Amino acid sequence: MSEQENQLPGDLAWPELNFSDFILSDSVKELHMSVDNEWDPLQRTACQTAAGRALWKHVIHDPVAEVLAGETYLRSLYEKIRKDQLNNAREVSGVILAVRTLWFDSKLEAALSSFDGGEAQVVLLGAGMDARAYRLNCLKGSNVFEVDFPKLLQMKATLLQAAMESANEHQQLTVTAKSLTRVAADIRDDDWLEKLQRSGFVLERNTVWVLEGILYYLSHHHAMQVLKTIADNCALTPTVLLADFMNKSSTALSQSIFHFYSDWPDHLLPSLGFSDIKLSQIGDPDAHFGLMHDPLNLFNKLRNLPRSVQTHPDDGTPCHRLYLVQASGTPKQTIP
Ligand SMILES: C[S@@+](CC[C@H](N)C(=O)[O-])C[C@H]1O[C@@H](n2cnc3c(N)ncnc32)[C@H](O)[C@@H]1O
Repeated sequence: MSEQENQLPGDLAWPELNFSDFILSDSVKELHMSVDNEWDPLQRTACQTAAGRALWKHVIHDPVAEVLAGETYLRSLYEKIRKDQLNNAREVSGVILAVRTLWFDSKLEAALSSFDGGEAQVVLLGAGMDARAYRLNCLKGSNVFEVDFPKLLQMKATLLQAAMESANEHQQLTVTAKSLTRVAADIRDDDWLEKLQRSGFVLERNTVWVLEGILYYLSHHHAMQVLKTIADNCALTPTVLLADFMNKSSTALSQSIFHFYSDWPDHLLPSLGFSDIKLSQIGDPDAHFGLMHDPLNLFNKLRNLPRSVQTHPDDGTPCHRLYLVQASGTPKQTIP
């Protein structure tokens, strides 16, 4: 898609929010009602993320994002987007999520093609409502593992099953990955890797670890444990880590939900045994996807400031940064 095509000009309204009969069916509404009433805020972030992908469909093709997100989160984000457009905001709600998703997609594809042959594994830690196993063709030779809390994975499976049953023959929903295995585990516990292995994950096989929108929800201790577990167990075979990190001031945006941060993940990861660290910020050449043209938008202003700067020189507001980081788990590997 060209950069021109990616843009929704400011004077054009966002496409109307239209729900299919399926989304509005009693069974789907009932399932999502239990998400709204019974899930905690951390688990509900999975649906908010899916809503972002569903509403940025002009850049992200995710055929199941809408059903996984549910009406509540779609409406809520849509309202924010409409307001941003009315106010001619330089950053429209959800843009950061769209760029982040596209960055992970592109780095995942590059990492898989950097492995010379053989089977690859892709582990989505804190997989939430991520539908990469259904939407990315680059996964056709990969065994995908989705790790998340049991009730979240159960709900995802139920919603996808319902979507498959309702789809007509022209819009069949299929897994594009070679295989998809859901692993119910809490990654704060010591046994998550063991559970993954019991589900068919093989330490000696080329692996891409996808940690998208997960580390900052963990405590410092647990996030470090997760990263150490990956580093310690994956040094023998080609391994790529893809992860996003908040800096300290970003976690202050919601202290009840964000915990772990790193201002210098490019220093932290080598100390754990990772190598070949590549760090990007939203708006960088490999992280804008035609969505960051305005040089005065927040992200472009931020990335032009030295990373040690904590507050904006113009107005003294804190610099909230999101770092997109790729690293290799094996000393000799180079990532494209
Ligand atoms: C913001 S969502 C991101 C989901 C997914 N990575 C994506 O990009 O669509 C965060 C996810 O992490 C999961 N999560 C948070 N803490 C977890 C833990 N301790 N163990 C397993 N999953 C966890 C939540 O249930 C939620 O699905």
